[in-house]
Amino acid sequence: MARAKYVFLNGELVPFDEAKVHVSSAAFKFGTAVFEGLRGYWNEKEEQMYLFRLDDHLARLEFSQRFMRFEEILDPAWIGEKTIELIRANELRETIHIMPTVFVSGFGGPGVCGPIGISIVANPGVSHGFVEKGCTAHVSAWRRPADAAMPMRVKCNANYQNGRLATVQAKADGYDTAILLNDRGKVAEGPGMCFFMVRDGKAVTPTTTSGILESITRATVLELLADRLGVKVEEREIDRSELPAAQEAFFCGTAWEVSPLVAIDRMPVGDGTPGEVTRRLQREFFAIAKGEVADYPHWRTAVY
Ligand SMILES: Cc1ncc(COP(=O)(O)O)c(C=O)c1O
Repeated sequence: MARAKYVFLNGELVPFDEAKVHVSSAAFKFGTAVFEGLRGYWNEKEEQMYLFRLDDHLARLEFSQRFMRFEEILDPAWIGEKTIELIRANELRETIHIMPTVFVSGFGGPGVCGPIGISIVANPGVSHGFVEKGCTAHVSAWRRPADAAMPMRVKCNANYQNGRLATVQAKADGYDTAILLNDRGKVAEGPGMCFFMVRDGKAVTPTTTSGILESITRATVLELLADRLGVKVEEREIDRSELPAAQEAFFCGTAWEVSPLVAIDRMPVGDGTPGEVTRRLQREFFAIAKGEVADYPHWRTAVY
């Protein structure tokens, strides 16, 4: 993993190797922490870094802290300022992945709610290579937990063990990743990304009450499909048995961007290559995120 020089930790910039949290903290012991993942896209022509939908990520981070009943809720605007300061201090001039984490640094049992710590890590962006060639998935035997058990709507670190089990299983079985069903047996999402399929000219994606994270890329894609591609979109339950009926499918998310799915359960999706709607959507998405077109300026925050 490429490492930036500094990490922001509890109000200070510290060298990467010195960014440490105590082993007795609730964050370490129980995963009592919430986080965000967002990207900064480097625009070579303008020599500018654009953070994609920063305010939306910070709003979701605030929601996660409130939901988890942390004893202090950190000001989103302040986290945004510190994120920009960190990127400038690291002199990052390439596409990056940023992870602000708000955590319980206090010792004690799982019910401890403070004191609160914060870290922000901004590293050169890792690409998994699926945007171009597409990826394969199976329908996992692991399910998303019920909303009343462990809500996926909250970006809590502990939630990610569910997706980890699915990812490790998928890779052991020879797939790139997994599609998880929810507790009702309907399609939910991937381990760290949302699912879309194109069926008979319409784009279909599970609702936000399907046991998924309320993804910012998903909301972006819904808007772009309707407004830029003129494709009708449906947010509804998806049965597992509908998957082989899809002409196209893709995952979307901050890390996965827009990544075509070329086979599910070893059955090719469409002709087994990335579909036309997916390719058009990728072009729109990247042009807007990188600021290569002037549209949707409210989705971009300039760093320099
Ligand atoms: C479980 C899960 N679903 C979906 C997504 C996509 O969300 P977003 O588009 O806000 O990054 C993520 C994070 O990237 C995630 O962790």
